[in-house]
Amino acid sequence: MTDIIDELRKHRSEAFTAQDSNAPVCFLATTDPHGQPQVRTLVLREINDTDLTLFINASSPKWEQLQSNPQCQVLLWYATLNLQYRITGIAEALPASAITNNWHKRPHRAKVLDYFYDTVAPQSATMASRDALLESFEAINRTRAPGEMRPSVAALAIRVQLARIERLDLTEDGLPHIRQQFDLSDTGWSETTLVP
Ligand SMILES: Cc1cc2nc3c(=O)[nH]c(=O)nc-3n(C[C@H](O)[C@H](O)[C@H](O)COP(=O)(O)O)c2cc1C
Repeated sequence: MTDIIDELRKHRSEAFTAQDSNAPVCFLATTDPHGQPQVRTLVLREINDTDLTLFINASSPKWEQLQSNPQCQVLLWYATLNLQYRITGIAEALPASAITNNWHKRPHRAKVLDYFYDTVAPQSATMASRDALLESFEAINRTRAPGEMRPSVAALAIRVQLARIERLDLTEDGLPHIRQQFDLSDTGWSETTLVP
């Protein structure tokens, strides 16, 4: 049987080599409390054997949504390889230690934004204007020396525990596309063919 995680990692690495603009990212879909789907681009940090890792901010709507309904999907589309992965799973927070080292490597602007979320307004909040936003951003920027900044407690690593991976492969020539579904259970991954 296909080792789906090995293949997923291999394809992502090939997408990087091919300079696919989607290689570093994924598209995370959640559901808000009104049942409205919400999707956004995130950097895909790690692909582990049974989960994916993402970094978000705890002040964001996506985290509120995931806390009330942790079921989510992560979509990958590598145009350079003609491959789509649709990944279904359950999100949960990781311990703060999962993000600490990475936080220090973030660009200064991103660190200041995390302080902004902590002290001015949460991520995705409305502001009176772009000028008002920049004024508050600059006020934090002026008073914080880059070297003294510490990870915000709201900077959050989350894990999406894998349940299902569906892959659509458009490379087949003259035949229907290849669409395979992989389900994870206590006995490992099982594979099913879907109509493309
Ligand atoms: C290329 C790209 C990468 C992004 N990476 C992240 C990320 O890793 N983490 C994150 O929280 N937001 C990231 N964003 C911003 C999100 O798409 C989104 O605008 C933000 O997190 C607010 O989402 P929410 O209102 O659904 O909570 C990225 C956006 C783009 C276009």
